[in-house]
Formats: sequence, structure tokens, C-alpha cells
Amino acid sequence: MLFAMAEKIILDCDPGHDDAIAILLAHGSPHIELLGVTTVMGNQTIEKVTRNALAVARVAGITDVPFARGAHRPLVREVEVAESIHGESGLDGPVLPEPLIELDARHAVDFIIDTVMQNEPGTVTLVPTGALTNLALAVRKEPRIAQRVKQVVMMGGGVNVGNWSATAEFNIVIDPEAAHIVVNESWPLTMVGIDVTHDALATDDVAAAIAAVGTAPAAFVGELLEFFGTTYREAQGFEHPPVHDPCAVAFVIDPTIMETAKVPLNVELTGTLTLGMTVTDFRAPAPDDCTTQVARNIDVPKFWGMIVDALERIGDPKL
Ligand code: BDR
Ligand code: CA
Repeated sequence: MLFAMAEKIILDCDPGHDDAIAILLAHGSPHIELLGVTTVMGNQTIEKVTRNALAVARVAGITDVPFARGAHRPLVREVEVAESIHGESGLDGPVLPEPLIELDARHAVDFIIDTVMQNEPGTVTLVPTGALTNLALAVRKEPRIAQRVKQVVMMGGGVNVGNWSATAEFNIVIDPEAAHIVVNESWPLTMVGIDVTHDALATDDVAAAIAAVGTAPAAFVGELLEFFGTTYREAQGFEHPPVHDPCAVAFVIDPTIMETAKVPLNVELTGTLTLGMTVTDFRAPAPDDCTTQVARNIDVPKFWGMIVDALERIGDPKL
């Protein structure tokens, strides 16, 4: 059941372990009306992440939400996947069920444009949790969406921190030109970067709370976190895996879960050591026309409470 003022979102993702959990949170939250899920290459190829998204739909019992496949490569660069983190399938760990629902016939870019233009102005939030390729193409194809969306809440980048290079985060650096377009658009944009999401760690207590839900989707999340934990330990030296993408959904559900600071934001396109870095200018108060802000300091217990609550609401759908 949705709350009357549920936030309408399009989740643009590349499942991906944490993207999968973002889909479950969006579907399970009564504060979110999930208008659609669109896919973009990233953690794996577009074929794999799209199949994974549809498999997650089946696990979650999602039958009435459109899923649309998007960009198969970045705007300028070659495809670069995150197999070291998400495995050969892009969602290694659990057995993935065969999808039940069909893809929407439209390309993700057209789905995003149609959905934003058909809804009331100022009501649709775009939540990208992968490369920004689809959003960049959409706003270039139909510039009116920049004025028409409510906001963009992006998982990507970080304030003075990188994970795919010393200075850049994966979602930004795999298609920096697209990210540059998106952060320089006139829409209100919140960056939920890895300086925030590195606090959203799936500790043993978190895993136990999720297991205690006792449903098949919760067990699925447990298996995702187990695999994610292993690769994050081996490839990135984390004791517990940071679960990035649902943090952006959590911000839409309840913006008080993080602090925010209005700050000019841009993406480096020419640096040899800093390609794809999200550059935040904290030198002075942001000018009045600044449309970008960064989120900081997530309330971690509240975040995991949202995930557990969403899983409890999803229950045990018939697979
Ligand atoms: C981001 O990169 C991807 O591997 C994750 O799904 C997340 O969106 C974190 O840097
Ligand atoms: Ca992702």
C-alpha cells in the first residue's frame, strides 16, 4: 500500500548487488511509487544487467512496473565492467530465477522522456545508480525534462574520494562525459557519493537482521551480501561491504536521513590522474543559482531499518 504522497521515481540502474537491493527498497517502501526501472551497462554488459533486473523483479514479486533496457555503451569510451566486484553474471551469489515479465518495448531513454513528460511537472524523481549515460541521452534528446523533473538523486561520485581510481568513483568514471552533462544540467541534483555510502556497511548485525525477516527475498539479499562481502574484502580491502545504491533511494524516502550542503559540482574530463573526479567547490557559499548539493553523514541505523522494513512489507511473493 502506498502513502498518499508517495514519491514517484524512475530507478536507472545496472544490477549489480547493491542495485538489486535498491530495487527491493523502492518496491517495498510505501513512500515510493516506482514508475519504472531502466537499465544501463556498468557493473556488467547491458544484456546481463537487464536480465538481472528482470530476475530481481521476479524475486521481489514485481509484476506491474515497466522495465526498459538502455545504453549498451558509454557516450565516448569503451565498456568497462566491474566483474571484480559483481562477478561474471553481474549478480553472482544467489541462483537467479528466470524472469517472468517482458521488457517494455521502448529504449530506456524514450521511457524516461515519456514518463517525465506524461506526469505532472515537478513530480518525477530520477534516481540513477549506474553510469549516467541514459540520463545524458534523455536530456539531450528532450531538454524539457530538465525543467519538468522534480529532482535527480544520483548514487555516484564522492567528495574527495575515489574507488575505481584514487580520485574517481565507478559510476562517474566509466562514462565521465555523460556525468558531466548530467551534473551541469539545470535540474536540482543531489549527489549521494561514496563518502556517504562507505558508512552503509552490511555488518554481521545487519546480515542477522535481514536473515531474521525469514522470507525468500530476504534470503536472496543475504546471498547477495555474502558474495558482495567477499569481493569487497578481496578487491577493495573492506571488512564489510558498503551497500551504495539503496542510499539514494533512502534519501528520496526521507531526506532527513542525510545532511546536505549546497555546493557547485562538476566532473573532471581531462585530468590524467583525476579523470571522472567529482569536483566540489566548498571555498565560498554556493551562488543562488547553484542547483547541485551533496549529501553527507547518513543515519546508518535508520537506513538499515528502511531495508528491513521494505523486506518485511514485500513478504514472500509467489515466484
Ligand atoms: C557504484 O558502483 C557500482 O559497482 C555499484 O553498483 C554502485 O552503483 C559504487 O561505486
Ligand atoms: Ca550500481
